[in-house]
Amino acid sequence: MLFFRKYHAVAVVITITIMGLSLNNCSQNKSAVANNPGPEKFAGSQACARCHKDIYGQHVQSFHHLTTALANAQTLKGNFDSANNFFFNDHLFIAAEKKQDSFYQTAYLYGAPKLSRPFNIVMGSGKRGQTSIYWFGNYLFQLPLTYFTETNEWTVSPGYSRKADFNRSITSRCLECHSTYFQEITTKSSKADEFSKSNFVLGVECEKCHGPGIEHIAFHEKNPNEKIGHAIVNPAKFSRIQSLDLCRLCHGGALNKTRPSFSFEAGNKLVDYFQEDTAKPVSQIDVHGNQYGMLAASKCFQNSEMTCITCHDAHKNESKQAMQFYVKCETCHKSSSHNICKLTETVKQNFLNANCINCHMPEQASKAIMVIRQGETIPTSAHMRSHYISVYKDISDQILRTKK
Ligand code: HEC
Ligand code: HEC
Ligand code: HEC
Ligand code: HEC
Ligand code: HEC
Ligand code: HEC
Ligand code: HEC
Repeated sequence: MLFFRKYHAVAVVITITIMGLSLNNCSQNKSAVANNPGPEKFAGSQACARCHKDIYGQHVQSFHHLTTALANAQTLKGNFDSANNFFFNDHLFIAAEKKQDSFYQTAYLYGAPKLSRPFNIVMGSGKRGQTSIYWFGNYLFQLPLTYFTETNEWTVSPGYSRKADFNRSITSRCLECHSTYFQEITTKSSKADEFSKSNFVLGVECEKCHGPGIEHIAFHEKNPNEKIGHAIVNPAKFSRIQSLDLCRLCHGGALNKTRPSFSFEAGNKLVDYFQEDTAKPVSQIDVHGNQYGMLAASKCFQNSEMTCITCHDAHKNESKQAMQFYVKCETCHKSSSHNICKLTETVKQNFLNANCINCHMPEQASKAIMVIRQGETIPTSAHMRSHYISVYKDISDQILRTKK
């Protein structure tokens, strides 16, 4: 194999933490009891497509839909050709490999394969990166290598050290944010959260945000002329708190649950399912996974009735439309009457529009999504949009300088 020829002179020492049943990080995350509801109530997004074709068409391109999927040639990101398929440094040698129609990560010790585990489910759309998980009995574990989009390479998965670990267990909370449903079958003697291998719904799908749809479909099939939706949740009709709570379930950071994962449904109050989050200073909130926390600290949020859907369409992939967000700002900040930045004399309006969010919601390095790159010991951060809307003087000056 090519990569061995390249590195044959280096002594490769791997410490493989073989996933026996010495599960290291599980006990504190284990759910007490698993009694979350069954998936029988779910019709599946494809059933919605018949009558909501446009929304379905948008949804299948969205990061919500793409965030978990069965691992296969279509859904997997990253290189599998022998020149670029591995991660190597003095203590670690792991390769991402394709064998017939299946994909594996294999740890090698002095050239000999020691441990190989399949890619079963991908997690992450790949906008920033994609990690993968595998079944071991009814447990799910993270694979040691994660594809990091910014640098187009395999890196050590967040949460792993530079050892060849295969034993980071995937909790029900992790899946609650990245999927619609997993049936949890954890018992008192489980070493970590256990899941049914046949009862799960991947992707953040329609019914996660709209509640179970079987009754709604049955009603509209029977009453094809009815123009008002029945027996379905529409978040547009939520109170501000309900609307925020739905998004906050997954965009509100690491909350401590008080009920089993997957019991919260759209429209419920978050405080009935999670401990009240203590307010932290913005400097301690990570840009990853806690858009709510950052936004809630902003004057825009505190002095208006703003929710997430003031700016976002939860059905769409908006990643190519970043520069269009100024239209949303202008619903509250009229650029004509506003002394926007007191720069209007010298700087053209379209420059301001194009940079609204770059100056007031700049991208920042995450301390939570960090990966170890080949040959490096200090982790590299992914960059995320800050939802703390504010004046960032230095960043603004820097952006202004590019104009002059
Ligand atoms: C047999 C046709 C049909 C199917 C299948 C269907 N719907 Fe509907 N739905 C309707 C009709 C008709 C309306 C009312 C008109 C409208 O708002 O588009 C509606 C309205 C809605 C509304 C708005 C309700 C409101 O209170 O304003 C939501 C949300 C919704 N549907 C979600 C879904 C979801 C999610 C699915 C899949 C689980 C689904 N629908 C499947 C026919 C259908
Ligand atoms: C069940 C969990 C869950 C819920 C509920 C949820 N999200 Fe998300 N959302 C995610 C995950 C996970 C991602 C990241 C997907 C990825 O890239 O892998 C995401 C991504 C996004 C993105 C980025 C998409 C892009 O185009 O860059 C936006 C915006 C977003 N969500 C808004 C919302 C809003 C608004 C709500 C509430 C109406 C909401 N989400 C509810 C889990 C959720
Ligand atoms: C991440 C959460 C989320 C997901 C996933 C999601 N929706 Fe929605 N949906 C919303 C929100 C929030 C609204 C209210 C939008 C608004 O008023 O701006 C909404 C509104 C709607 C409406 C009312 C009509 C409208 O445009 O206001 C329909 C119909 C609907 N969704 C169908 C679907 C279908 C079908 C799917 C899956 C293909 C789906 N939704 C997936 C959050 C979601
Ligand atoms: C509280 C909800 C939540 C939990 C728990 C959570 N995530 Fe995420 N994750 C998100 C959201 C939201 C995003 C996308 C937006 C962001 O990063 O803020 C995301 C992004 C990601 C991405 C990057 C996707 C991309 O391409 O941008 C990966 C990979 C990922 N998560 C894996 C995991 C794994 C593995 C776990 C469990 C060990 C986990 N997440 C736990 C909510 C969560
Ligand atoms: C729903 C209405 C609303 C929207 C939408 C909105 N804002 Fe605001 N914003 C406000 C309010 C209200 C204030 C507080 C004004 C005050 O204190 O006088 C504010 C304050 C601000 C401030 C001053 C913050 C500070 O710390 O001094 C900035 C900068 C700002 N907004 C930028 C934006 C940008 C950029 C957008 C679009 C991405 C936006 N706003 C969207 C309502 C909104
Ligand atoms: C004032 C407008 C505004 C509000 C309100 C808002 N966002 Fe955003 N959001 C943005 C902008 C602008 C971006 C950047 C889009 C881009 O760069 O592609 C963004 C990006 C995101 C992303 C992708 C993060 C990334 O770095 O790729 C997620 C996830 C997200 N928002 C979730 C939320 C959630 C959840 C809420 C409510 C708690 C929310 N947003 C409220 C304007 C807003
Ligand atoms: C080149 C960077 C830059 C751009 C682009 C920019 N701003 Fe600002 N903005 C600033 C700075 C710096 C301040 C604070 C100093 C000032 O008021 O001049 C500010 C102040 C503000 C304030 C608070 C004003 C007040 O009177 O308290 C709001 C609201 C605001 N900007 C909104 C916007 C909106 C909306 C856009 C897009 C149409 C935008 N800004 C584009 C840098 C920028």
